[in-house]
Amino acid sequence: YPIFAQQNYASPREATGRIVCANCHLAKKPVDIEVPQAVLPDTVFEAVVKIPYDTQVQQVLGNGKKGPLNVGAVLILPEGFKLAPQDRIPEEMKSKISNLYFQPYNAANENILVIGPIPGDKNREIVFPILSPDPAKDKGTYFIKYPISVGANRGRGQVYPDGSKSNNTVYNASVSGTITDIIKEKKAYKISIETKDGTVVDTVPVGPELIVAKGDTVVTGQPITDNPNVGGFGQMDTEVVLQNPVRIKWLIAFLILSTLGQVFLVLKKKQFERVQIAESNF
Ligand code: HEM
Repeated sequence: YPIFAQQNYASPREATGRIVCANCHLAKKPVDIEVPQAVLPDTVFEAVVKIPYDTQVQQVLGNGKKGPLNVGAVLILPEGFKLAPQDRIPEEMKSKISNLYFQPYNAANENILVIGPIPGDKNREIVFPILSPDPAKDKGTYFIKYPISVGANRGRGQVYPDGSKSNNTVYNASVSGTITDIIKEKKAYKISIETKDGTVVDTVPVGPELIVAKGDTVVTGQPITDNPNVGGFGQMDTEVVLQNPVRIKWLIAFLILSTLGQVFLVLKKKQFERVQIAESNF
């Protein structure tokens, strides 16, 4: 969950650029983000995060039963950019956001937003309403190109913050030996592995399917279950230009002037040709 990241990491992005959700959501799946090429200062715009997956597929839940996937995301904006306040969001954008609840990552980072878990079937596309800064008022922001990163996830993680495994991952034999017994209890399998120095009991929670049987020999680290995880995490970077409106006005003025300049050059040439024709005597 995003809250696990918020509680355990001051910043959701490691020095390598990796987003921390990947530490516990071990499978890699695609994500996509769309933002405008450029935005004007103090303007609300959309960042659309896409988390594709097949909604027919179900995952193992905490109780070992199957169920639908949820999604979540973290959006790392440049400093100065933040979640758009409700009263600034245009009506047609509101309808796309419905009643999603976005949150700043922590008090120090208003420019980092998290959401989730939310039901995946309705939210494979999440629209973040963003307010751009105004370099005239917001110190430290400039009219330049800025990077934006997103990390997004569907499905349950494989590791809890305390380091223990969830039941949505593969389990391995802890020792080498022969399986002498498999007992199914309410919430787990107890697998007895006989080694040279005695019997070791491995516990596998309900969820993953056992791929070993009584009588099999196993070696340390060998998978004894399948990998039930159908979800995964992905991250992506993009860019947005904070555009100065004055620059655009000057650009338009320049384009009009140079068009006019070209037109007048052609007119002058035509006029000169007519003079040449009038003066010619042959
Ligand atoms: C569950 C997203 C970081 C461990 C989930 C779920 C979402 C999610 C959406 C629910 C999935 C479902 O019910 O189908 C994220 C995002 C993260 C993040 C966006 C980063 C911002 C982490 C971290 C850890 C973690 C850092 C480990 C320390 C888990 C676990 C579950 C889970 C173990 C399953 C919980 C359970 O059902 O018992 N996460 N997560 N997640 N996440 Fe994360």
